[in-house]
Parts: sequence; C-alpha cells; structure tokens
Amino acid sequence: LAARQRGDLLAGRQVLISAGPTFEDIDPVRFLGNRSSGRMGFAIAEAAAEAGASVTLVAGPVNLATPAGVQRIDVRSAREMHAAVLGAAQNCDVFIAAAAVGDFRPAEVALHKIKKRGDGGLSLELTQNPDILADVAALPRRPLLVGFAAETENVEAYARAKLERKRLDLIAANQVGSGLGFEVDDNSLTLISADATLRLPTAPKRELARQLIDVVAQRLRDRGT
Ligand code: CTP
Ligand code: CA
Repeated sequence: LAARQRGDLLAGRQVLISAGPTFEDIDPVRFLGNRSSGRMGFAIAEAAAEAGASVTLVAGPVNLATPAGVQRIDVRSAREMHAAVLGAAQNCDVFIAAAAVGDFRPAEVALHKIKKRGDGGLSLELTQNPDILADVAALPRRPLLVGFAAETENVEAYARAKLERKRLDLIAANQVGSGLGFEVDDNSLTLISADATLRLPTAPKRELARQLIDVVAQRLRDRGT
C-alpha cells in the first residue's frame, strides 16, 4: 500500500504491544534475561503508528529509541510487564505480544549479593511468571490477540499448537537460534491463523512489521468491530 493509504489502515484503533525481554532479578547485581533485542516489537509499534493507530508500547529493558507518536511504558520484570499490559488492555482493539517474557523468576530475590560458599555451586529455585497473553485473553472485552512463537525446531507445528492452546487470532512464528531471529535486522515470519498460513520471506523487521499490520487491519475489518 502507498504511504498515504497506509495512514488510514488503523485510524481510530488502539493498539497495545509488548516488546523486548524481561529481566528477573536474582540479587542486586544479577538477573535472568534472554536474547530478545525488542527490535521486532518496536518495528511493529512504528508500523502501527504509521498506519494511524494510537499505540501503547510496553517495553522490557532494551536499548532502542521510541518510534514517533508511540506512547512507551518501560518495565523490567515479567510481573511489571503484566501489570502495565493489563492496565492498558481494557480499551485496546488489538494486543500484539511480541515480548520474550521470562517464564520463570527466582522464588526469592536476595537482598545482598550472593556469595560463594566453598565449591558446592548454587541451586536457584524458580517460580513461574504469570502469562500476560492468557490474562488479556480472559478479559471480558477481549481484543484481537496476536502472539509470537520463537522456536528452535518444529516451528509451524509448535506455533499452531500455541495458537489453539492460547485461543489466539493470529500467531507469528519464527525460527530462532544460531544467528536467526534475535539481535539481527532481518527475520522471516510465518503468520498462522485458524484458517490460513502466510509465509513472509526473509526481510528487514520493519518490512515484516508492515505486513503484519496489514494482516491485523484486515482481520479487524473482517471482525466488523
Ligand atoms: N507470553 C506472555 N506471557 C508469558 C509468556 C508468554 O504474554 N508469561 C506471550 C509471548 O509474548 C508470546 C506468546 O505468549 O506472544 C508465546 O510465548 P512463548 O514463550 O512462545 O510460549 P509459552 O506459552 O511461554 O510456552 P513455552 O515457552 O513453554 O514454549
Ligand atoms: Ca515462554
């Protein structure tokens, strides 16, 4: 679509996006994190804003500039991201969960730096974090739900299973690991819904983000909401 037409695609729509990793503190100097750079989520926020949407971006710890016209909320842990997303989700038309949310956090955060004691190593007890996407899906006024599935194997099969288990409208699947997916500019995505599979060839994340936004806009029109 031409830029002029793109500007109307999501006019009047509220789009909520989660992006980046989460950091789960172990003690005052250490954390559990992951390799998400946030670039895909930020590119989606930019594309949604270009398409005329009112965009809220809940960002984990990343080193990225806020796209023009986007309202950004910075968070660190999965629980902070959960609170920020649920706080903004009530009125949104679409939630795009691009964040790589840590599944687990240390059961306790040590008040002081953990010290070595002999040669015995250390066991950390981990607790499961809340599932942000599942909790948005359970809201009375459920927005259109777009999930991401970053997988290292069986990408489309795992993604389709996730689409069904999480009752999503759309899932964007990508292969990660060995130089793919994280911390790179190019990516390839497969958009999977109940009735279709759309393979987007390798392209800059910005271009993939535009294509994803086109599909989201189409879905919203189909829903007639
Ligand atoms: N997600 C979320 N909150 C979580 C975990 C995941 O919102 N606590 C979202 C992610 O942002 C993504 C989707 O759920 O859009 C799928 O995440 P993924 O990690 O692939 O799936 P999980 O359900 O966590 O399953 P697993 O990691 O065990 O494969
Ligand atoms: Ca996970």
